[in-house]
Amino acid sequence: MKILAVETSCDETAASVVKFEKGLSHVELLSNVVATSLPMHRETGGIIPENAAREQLKYIIPVINQALKEASSKDSDIDSLAVTVGPGLIGSLLVGVETVKAYSYIWKKPIIPVNHLFGHIYANFIGRKEKEIKFPSIALIVSGGHTDLVLIKSHSNIKWLGGTRDDAAGEALDKTGRLLGLSYPAGPKIEDLAKKGTDTFKFPRPLIESGDYDFSFSGLKTAVLREVEKGAKPRLENFCYSVQQAIIDVLIKKTLKAAKEFRTKSILLGGGVAANGKLREQLELEIKNLKLEIPLFVPEKRLCTDNAAMIGAAAAFLGKPKSWDKIEANPELYFD
Ligand code: KG4
Ligand code: ZN
Repeated sequence: MKILAVETSCDETAASVVKFEKGLSHVELLSNVVATSLPMHRETGGIIPENAAREQLKYIIPVINQALKEASSKDSDIDSLAVTVGPGLIGSLLVGVETVKAYSYIWKKPIIPVNHLFGHIYANFIGRKEKEIKFPSIALIVSGGHTDLVLIKSHSNIKWLGGTRDDAAGEALDKTGRLLGLSYPAGPKIEDLAKKGTDTFKFPRPLIESGDYDFSFSGLKTAVLREVEKGAKPRLENFCYSVQQAIIDVLIKKTLKAAKEFRTKSILLGGGVAANGKLREQLELEIKNLKLEIPLFVPEKRLCTDNAAMIGAAAAFLGKPKSWDKIEANPELYFD
């Protein structure tokens, strides 16, 4: 089965062709094209939704054509389309959803609607044998828009355990990065600078002992602002280390708490912040130190940040193909 998937929920315009044979093999990536409008958002210090959608209008058809070309595919090879229907920015989602609806009508192929958050989880299945990832599984989705812990008992039984009450982990990194004069998105720069820093500030680890699966990261930017306002000039590297470490400690503590409570057989990471090397290494180390013997799965870095291959993968596992007139963008979509 070949799926042409499209993702436009935030600032990326992405299309991918994936191949999947259920039970037999894994999701095979035939193409994965991502056009980004990041340089424009760097100038404004963050994403302005209208600007993002205008760029996506320009990119969407060339990106789909490129994905088909790289996969040496044409409409007659494609069994189904897939598209992110939410959550996300309404203008951006509309570009992808309405374009895919037009393809569906003209090509006479069904559409599998995909929740972007499930896409981040299923990025872990790309290039892996389906049976490698054993359930129950705990998934931590950490991106610019989301911080969620999810329990996956099976492909049809996915339960949300908790999430952020305010800023997402990536958002906290981006906002503190801005206070420190770093360009958007700050996550990768903070990771780099932190390599030469230490935990000088010992910022609070919000809700670390709350006993639930909630997160709260908005206080961190206030803590950083207070230090910046003191006027002292501590090394930027130490700021970066301290902020990154505070976030990582909370993420790991809650993920391992859930893994133990639900006796999971695997842990999955997903979302842009999952590209963070320190998060991956520390989580791996703590799993080992606690002798939990739970395998950790993390997507390739390019599949952590927004892409359409992950939407194709989620469609392959969860797919319920529908007619184009039953598909609608839903910016507020969450876990069922
Ligand atoms: O998943 P994503 O591409 O978009 C959303 O769905 O939000 O995630 C983007 C977020 C940004 O906040 C960015 O700063 C963060 O992921 N990010 C990182 C790294 N790479 C991207 N954060 C920490 N370390 C990284 N290496
Ligand atoms: Zn995302």
